[in-house]
Formats: sequence, structure tokens, C-alpha cells
Amino acid sequence: MAQDRPGEVSRKTFLGIVTGGIVAAIGAVVGATGLAYFASPAFKSESEDWVDIGPASAIKHGVPTKVDFTQRRRDAWDVIEQRSSAWVVTSNGADFTAFDPRCTHLGCPYRWDADKKEFLCPCHGGVFNEQGQVVAGPPPRPLDRYFVKVEKGRLLIRPLVKRAIA
Ligand code: FES
Repeated sequence: MAQDRPGEVSRKTFLGIVTGGIVAAIGAVVGATGLAYFASPAFKSESEDWVDIGPASAIKHGVPTKVDFTQRRRDAWDVIEQRSSAWVVTSNGADFTAFDPRCTHLGCPYRWDADKKEFLCPCHGGVFNEQGQVVAGPPPRPLDRYFVKVEKGRLLIRPLVKRAIA
């Protein structure tokens, strides 16, 4: 077997280096792609999922409307379907507010009283106005809100990120 002379690289050694480099590059690309495929669900943010809850025109002006929807939530590699709802309010058909349907005291479902024009919680007498502010009872903060937007006439909410109004 011929030895490489100092300062020179034989054809065999050169081809070995090139082949090894190509194999290493292919392995890196395949490994990175596979890692991204399997790991990405674990890092996917739930908050990126907007849910279409219907036409914005279905919400009457000045009449809080309870809208039911199915929320698909990703939990790593599983997709979990969960029924949920929101109280949607608009005064002009352009700006919408969507409230979480659970009272901020202990989580009871509340309802809209059209005569009193207030949200009433039956559990401990919590009362909220149309803007979700506490009017009476023990709730420690206003109703939680979903993020909401209108696209092409459809009402979209982002259910898993709620924020309290100030
Ligand atoms: S849970 Fe609504 S007032 Fe207590």
C-alpha cells in the first residue's frame, strides 16, 4: 500500500475525505430535519391558535350573545378538542369584546339579564356590567377577556390567552 508523501494527499485519501464530508453533511441535514419534526409540537405555542366562532354579523348590537365553539388544543403531539363558549359584545358591529364565560370569583357560569342589563352569577351574587366590570358581589376582578379580531367578516378569538381588563 502506497503511503502519502509528506505534503501530498493521494487520490484515495482525498476521495475518503470528500466521501466522509458528504456523508456527514447528509447526516446533519437528515438529523436536523427529523429533530425539528419530532420536537416542534412540544414547543408550539397554544396561544397562536385563533378559533373562528362565526360571522361577526350574527352578534346583535348591544345584546351580549353567548357563542359556543370547539377549541382544538395541542398538547405536545396530541390534539384535544374541548367545547367552550364566550359572551360576545359589540355596540357598533365593528369593535367586539369576548368574555370568558366563567365568573372571576370561583368560576361559576354566569348569564346575561336583559332587563337589568347585567351579567349575573348565581353562585354568590356576583354582578358585572356590560363592559365586564364588577358591579356587586365577591368577584375580585372584572371578567376575563379573550383576544378577539374580525377577518373577512368572521369573528376570531384566541381562547387560551385571556387577559383581565383594567
Ligand atoms: S362564583 Fe360567581 S360570585 Fe362566586
